[in-house]
Amino acid sequence: MKESKIQDYITKSGLSCNLVFLSEVDSTNDFAKKNVISPPSVIISPFQKKGRGRLNNRWYSEPEKNITMTIVPDRIRSEKDFCIVNYYAGVVIYNVLANEYPELKVALKWPNDIMINGKKAGGILTEVVKRKDFNDSSLIIGIGLNVNQEEFPEELKSIKYKSRNPTSILLESGKQSELEDLAYKIIKEFFVFFDAIYCPERILYLWKKFSELVGKEVEFIKTDNNEAFKGKVLDIECDGAIVLLNDSGEKFKFFSGEVHLIY
Ligand code: BTN
Repeated sequence: MKESKIQDYITKSGLSCNLVFLSEVDSTNDFAKKNVISPPSVIISPFQKKGRGRLNNRWYSEPEKNITMTIVPDRIRSEKDFCIVNYYAGVVIYNVLANEYPELKVALKWPNDIMINGKKAGGILTEVVKRKDFNDSSLIIGIGLNVNQEEFPEELKSIKYKSRNPTSILLESGKQSELEDLAYKIIKEFFVFFDAIYCPERILYLWKKFSELVGKEVEFIKTDNNEAFKGKVLDIECDGAIVLLNDSGEKFKFFSGEVHLIY
C-alpha cells in the first residue's frame, strides 16, 4: 500500500480530508484516540498489529493485504449520533462493494458486520473519543475490510455458525484488488454523502434493506451470558437495538449480541 497513491486520489478528487498514513501501528482507532487528529481525517495503515474488534475481540489482518483505517469526521460533536453514524458507515461500505463487485452477494449483519456470500469480510468499530482538553466528545469510525488475504487463523472459524467464518474479497471473487483504490472509494463515499446522517430514517431504511434481516428467523446469542434466543426479527431501531419476536408472541429488544440466520 502506497501513501502517495491514496494521497493522489484524494488530491485529484478535491476531497477535503487529511491523510495520516502509518507504515505500522498497533490500532488505527487507538491512534485516533491518543493523538489530536484534526477532522476531517483518515488514518490508514497497511500493518495493524493489535487491531481491536467489537466486544474486545482481536481483529487480525495480515500486513499489506487488507484495509484497516479509521475515519475522523468533522461536524459530529455528540455521542447521540453514534448509532446512525455506525449504520451510515455500513451503508457506505455496502454501496462501494456492491458497485465494485456486482458478482458478489454483499450484505450487512447487525450490528456492524460486512458480509460477503454469508461470511464475515469486514467490520466497523465506531467509538466515542472524549477530550478532557476540549471538554467535548466526538466519534471515530474504524473500518476493517479483508481484501487480498487468503488464510485466516483457525480460531476464527466456526462449524456451527457459518456467518462467523472469515472471508475476503479475493477468496470470494478470485480477484486481487488494489487496496489504495478501494480505500479511497470508501473514504470518498463516506465524506461526499455524509450529510445523510441528518436523515436517520433514510440511513436506517437502507441499512435494513441491505441487511435483509427483518422478517427472518434468527438465533440470537446474548453478549452478557451467551444465552441463545430464537425468534423473528421485527425491526432494527435508530437507537441501535434489534427487536425480536419469539414463538409465544413476546417482543424482546437487544442492544448487544450476535445474530445468526436459521436456514
Ligand atoms: C468487528 O467486526 O468486530 C469490528 C472490527 C473493526 C476493525 C477495525 S480495523 C481499523 C480499526 N482499528 C481497530 O483497532 N479496529 C478497527
